[in-house]
Amino acid sequence: MTSFKDLEQTGWTRGAAAYDDWFAPVTRQAIGPILDALGDGLPGRTFLDICSGTGHLAKAAAMRGALARGVDFAPTMVAAAQRSFPDIAFSEGDAERLAFADASFDAVTMSFGLLHLSDPEAGLREVFRVLRPAGRFAFTVWLPPDQGFDLMRIVGPAIREHGSRDVSLPPAPSPFRFADLGEAERALTAAGFAGIASRRHDCLWTGTQGSDLLAMIDRAFVRTPMLIDAQTPEAQQRIKQAIVEKAETYRRGDRIELRFPCLVITAAKPG
Ligand SMILES: C[S@@+](CC[C@H](N)C(=O)[O-])C[C@H]1O[C@@H](n2cnc3c(N)ncnc32)[C@H](O)[C@@H]1O
Repeated sequence: MTSFKDLEQTGWTRGAAAYDDWFAPVTRQAIGPILDALGDGLPGRTFLDICSGTGHLAKAAAMRGALARGVDFAPTMVAAAQRSFPDIAFSEGDAERLAFADASFDAVTMSFGLLHLSDPEAGLREVFRVLRPAGRFAFTVWLPPDQGFDLMRIVGPAIREHGSRDVSLPPAPSPFRFADLGEAERALTAAGFAGIASRRHDCLWTGTQGSDLLAMIDRAFVRTPMLIDAQTPEAQQRIKQAIVEKAETYRRGDRIELRFPCLVITAAKPG
């Protein structure tokens, strides 16, 4: 069976073209809170955004004076980021095995990346390794449906009602593992981090019709389509129809609005 990591890399390589139109408008809402969480120390500091996607976070860090660069394992993401922001260096690389020297960055970020790693512990060890002593790390993860993640309140029941959760998929960590603060603290502490803090931030997705949500899932997501694509063709149809219908229950006037709440978690490498 293809590994989770291979499915992720294939999925993001395919999804890069649609990402800025469909999902970056949501994830970009977390950029300000992530950079704010790093404090005032960005001007003149070396900064690495891991899982940099289409590059907006690295660009925003550079606008705040950081010497920013980005790394992502999807070549099309790297190419898209480089096209949009030619003044910033983006490179291809695996978050679980970074090609950067020890202690080479003052600040590191990973926005909605940790939940996509097949070995998040290895990712955290790598962040710790490339950070200088007293360097700071900030990352985001989505909060689960019971804390307001509307997308999964739609997709989860659609799959439960019309498909099977018992489909053959490669083993993968829970996408909400680090939304459990106790678990995040345990993993960060085990990697050597201290000074762990977190703050909730609510991003918002808006669309004009339920089919917009389906289009975003199809074109710019990776983990959710894995669950849908593993169903029988008939079940896939019913699930997609249910997603379109359930999305309508989130209509506010002429827009459908879904909350995408996240945690911004920060930690420091002891000085
Ligand atoms: C949800 S997107 C987030 C992109 C961007 N940080 C944002 O906030 O919009 C996840 C990104 O992580 C990248 N990614 C996933 N696993 C990775 C890995 N092991 N190494 C490097 N990049 C990875 C994907 O290619 C994709 O660009």
